[in-house]
Amino acid sequence: MHRDKTPMNDTIEILTRRRSVPPPMMTGPAPTADELATILTIASRVPDHGKLAPWRFLIFAGAARERATRIALDIRLADKPDLDEAGRAEEQRRFVRAPLVVAVVSRAAPHPKIPEWEQILSAGAVCMNMIVAARALGFSATWLTEWMAYDARFRAGIGLAEHERIAGFLHIGRTTAAIEDRPRPPLAEIATNFPE
Ligand SMILES: Cc1cc2nc3c(=O)[nH]c(=O)nc-3n(C[C@H](O)[C@H](O)[C@H](O)COP(=O)(O)O)c2cc1C
Repeated sequence: MHRDKTPMNDTIEILTRRRSVPPPMMTGPAPTADELATILTIASRVPDHGKLAPWRFLIFAGAARERATRIALDIRLADKPDLDEAGRAEEQRRFVRAPLVVAVVSRAAPHPKIPEWEQILSAGAVCMNMIVAARALGFSATWLTEWMAYDARFRAGIGLAEHERIAGFLHIGRTTAAIEDRPRPPLAEIATNFPE
């Protein structure tokens, strides 16, 4: 099986070198059923105040990616029937750029003890764990939301309940291209000691 060159047993190495890969630069094969089960199991193993599991997964694989793309395209065309060729081409590829897309759906809701904010943070942790698990199995993973996450018609179209939100569409695939890093915030700018 093809693996990227990153040493898979070195968490620090994976985290130090992690980079998002544009989904058009991803190829198959998609994760196998076993690999996907591993990725989702690890993704769901996150801190979760109150053990509410305030998130769930919606998997877009194979032809289901085309159906999701069609739902997005129809909405865009309803809003903009004169969408130009480039815009149309972009919409026609939304969920088929990567071999697999997993929506992390936040189902955070008011709770007597657990702040909704913490439930939302937990969904972010799910997304990040998914990226790391995918990378450790030799995949690239990229966290996108794009306009679809914020369009109530799209969310309903893919079966989300009214209160559910998209934490991310995690695009997962193989990459052979080397991706240049981007500047990272210097620690000196983001970390300070609380004065004694
Ligand atoms: C919640 C969330 C949503 C994002 N949505 C998008 C998006 O819709 N489009 C995009 O280009 N990048 C999006 N990003 C940023 C990418 O995931 C990525 O972080 C960025 O391209 C920088 O690359 P890096 O991860 O290697 O630092 C999003 C990030 C987060 C945390």
